[in-house]
Amino acid sequence: MPEPLRIRIAGSGRALPDKVLTNQWFIDRLETSEEWIRERTGILERRIASEGESTATLATTAARKALADAKMSVDDIDMIIVATITPECPFPSTACFVQQALGGPPVPAFDLAAACSGYIYGFIVSSFLLQNGLYRNILLIGAETMSKITDYDDRSTCILFGDGAGATILSASPKTDGPALLHYRMQAEGSGLSMLAVPAGGSRLPASKMTIDERLHYVKMQGREVYKLAVKRNLELIDSTLAEAGVSPEDIALVIPHQSNLRIIESARQRLGLPQDRVFTNIQRYGNTSAASIPICIDECREMGRIKPGDLVLLVGFGAGLTWGSALIRI
Ligand code: ACO
Repeated sequence: MPEPLRIRIAGSGRALPDKVLTNQWFIDRLETSEEWIRERTGILERRIASEGESTATLATTAARKALADAKMSVDDIDMIIVATITPECPFPSTACFVQQALGGPPVPAFDLAAACSGYIYGFIVSSFLLQNGLYRNILLIGAETMSKITDYDDRSTCILFGDGAGATILSASPKTDGPALLHYRMQAEGSGLSMLAVPAGGSRLPASKMTIDERLHYVKMQGREVYKLAVKRNLELIDSTLAEAGVSPEDIALVIPHQSNLRIIESARQRLGLPQDRVFTNIQRYGNTSAASIPICIDECREMGRIKPGDLVLLVGFGAGLTWGSALIRI
């Protein structure tokens, strides 16, 4: 196993819109049912941005809470990274909008686009930058307003997604045997890019009347294919991460998976042979919030005392790109 990267989560915060979309909201508009949504996805409700709420406003709220939790001010932050696939606009980056809202010194700020794996990718990249000694505290946020790219006439995708943001402050850790990123995996498979994408609105297919008429600015997903690959890749990820780290499933205090679908999470839990209380889920309340899901979970787990110093925690996620990644951390 490579040398641990000595980093710790110094603070966390989350922001969820107040507006709730229940399963009944979809049943009233589409040909679907409570049973179908619950059984296929595990989702009971999701939070959706209201007018005036956007990816940057949610990210900023989560960031302020993380700063307060870490007892830091924005002047202590050396870098801002926002993992998102629903940026404030094509440019500037959402991270720059967050920086504008927070104020503070002119530290680097940029977005990272790896869909549902975005927070894990960001966690790994941040760990290397912190270990290097170049930066002391990185504000890493996962923030999405998936409702802005969801086609509410497409029953196979619209029931899945929700909005929200989770922010963490990752800091260099002085102790050699203390908090650390112990092992990670980070992969992508561009050959699967058309399985899950927003086809229009970029340089490949700029916005036009045609793209709007054909609803190409919304998420298109080959659900069943993505589902099968998500299960396969998650299982491979878990096996390889634990084997390479020399850690057995019983050593893991808590698995925090990307909240994509309760059945995908359940297959991972069964592979690990862990009881339900060792795999955290909140998809029931928030749906799939893409890059925001893992940091929202981290914040809830810290608040509830589900993760505490010394615990081994496994983050694992799979998403569009296709991308997938894991991070085995000691809290
Ligand atoms: N209500 C009722 N029936 C529905 C609905 C609905 N909301 N949606 C689809 N159906 C029907 C289909 O039309 C199909 O009917 P048919 O058999 O008559 O053709 C049937 O249900 C089964 O459809 P599938 O798409 O095969 O259903 P599946 O069991 O695969 O569940 C789901 C669909 C929940 C979308 C699942 O495929 C999934 O979770 N996929 C992976 C999602 C994911 O992990 N994405 C990656 C992260 S997201 C990101 O990166 C942005």
